[in-house]
Amino acid sequence: QISEAEVALFSVSSYACQRRTTLDNHNSNLTDALSLLAENAELNNEDGRGVAFRRAAALLKALPTQVISMSQLRGLPCLGEHSLRVIKDVLENGVSSEVESTKQSKRYKALKILTGIFGVGAKTADRWIRAGIYNLEQLRHSGQTLNRAQKAGLEHYDDLNEPVTKAEADAIGEIVQKAVDSVLTGSQVALSGGFRRGKLTGHDVDFLITHPEEGKEVGLMPKVVAWLESQGFLLYQKTTRNSYLESKDGPARPASNMDRFERCFSIFKLTKGKEQENTDQQLRELSKNYQMEAASHKIWRAVRVDLVVSPISQFAFAVLGWTGSKLFERELRRWAGHEKNMSLSSHALFDNTQNKYLRATSEEEIFAYLGLEYIPPSERNA
Ligand code: CTP
Ligand code: MN
Ligand code: MN
Ligand code: MN
Repeated sequence: QISEAEVALFSVSSYACQRRTTLDNHNSNLTDALSLLAENAELNNEDGRGVAFRRAAALLKALPTQVISMSQLRGLPCLGEHSLRVIKDVLENGVSSEVESTKQSKRYKALKILTGIFGVGAKTADRWIRAGIYNLEQLRHSGQTLNRAQKAGLEHYDDLNEPVTKAEADAIGEIVQKAVDSVLTGSQVALSGGFRRGKLTGHDVDFLITHPEEGKEVGLMPKVVAWLESQGFLLYQKTTRNSYLESKDGPARPASNMDRFERCFSIFKLTKGKEQENTDQQLRELSKNYQMEAASHKIWRAVRVDLVVSPISQFAFAVLGWTGSKLFERELRRWAGHEKNMSLSSHALFDNTQNKYLRATSEEEIFAYLGLEYIPPSERNA
């Protein structure tokens, strides 16, 4: 028997929802590489490959120490042949040649730039690339028709590609709370998404809105949006009605993973705070560059905000479904279906064996129904 005492061996559960994944990642050299390949696969509409790389990255994020040798990975789940090849490359050479060549490729660069526009997905970006459009300049001069979202996305491109800070998220939270208080007293606002998981920055800010009295929340979103608009807080918004129909026996089964809450995808106009103004003052003093100076005079910035209204009876499911991470959510649904014969959505949990809905008023109850140890939001960073 060869002793492996010199390297730590790991024992890890195969579903990400069985694991505790904090933001303290000891293997970012490996997970960055795998995440880039996942992103590239997703940008090319190769969802299967994308998920495989995401699962491999998530497994490494959950390890308690840094991986230094391939032998430590023996017997671990979620690591396919391709992912192992990438990991080996990084461990031996410091970088993965596949990642490096992907980063350099004209197509990847163009997909990144074009999908960086709010409202532009992989399919639109691919169509534009096939029309010879690789950057914003070419897009602006291409004569391509942009929809309302894409026009707003292009106009606020730089702001929307700058990470949102926790301080900005809190400032927007106060505005949303004020809006909600103004249109329906007793309404509640909950921060969800990455910031609820303890992330310090995000690509947007996600909020859930509900009211303790069932039914009071109906029609709330248009009122909230009208208030925000009247106060000049919105640069863009698209509100979608609730399409989740209740039957006599309970909520109808959602047709897809996409939830059907009343929701609003928006771009907020956020006035910069004192801290930011001071930074701008320093920037102005330091700046020799005219454009930089012009930008530094802007006293507001655009921030992506998602608002979702949920009835109180579905709120626990909505909170669980909108806290993420995306992979954690996917794994929860996979666990529910494959291991428990249950269907989980952001609205409800259906037990296919008992043929009934399982009601819950907290996330803890939902984990218990699923036979999972409770994982708090800060440990759902898979
Ligand atoms: N979500 C969803 N339906 C959508 C969009 C998002 O259910 N159409 C859920 C995702 O599954 C995720 C949560 O909303 O759980 C937040 O999504 P998102 O804002 O995209 O990601 P974050 O984890 O918040 O990361 P980031 O900081 O980049 O915003
Ligand atoms: Mn640690
Ligand atoms: Mn988010
Ligand atoms: Mn979001």
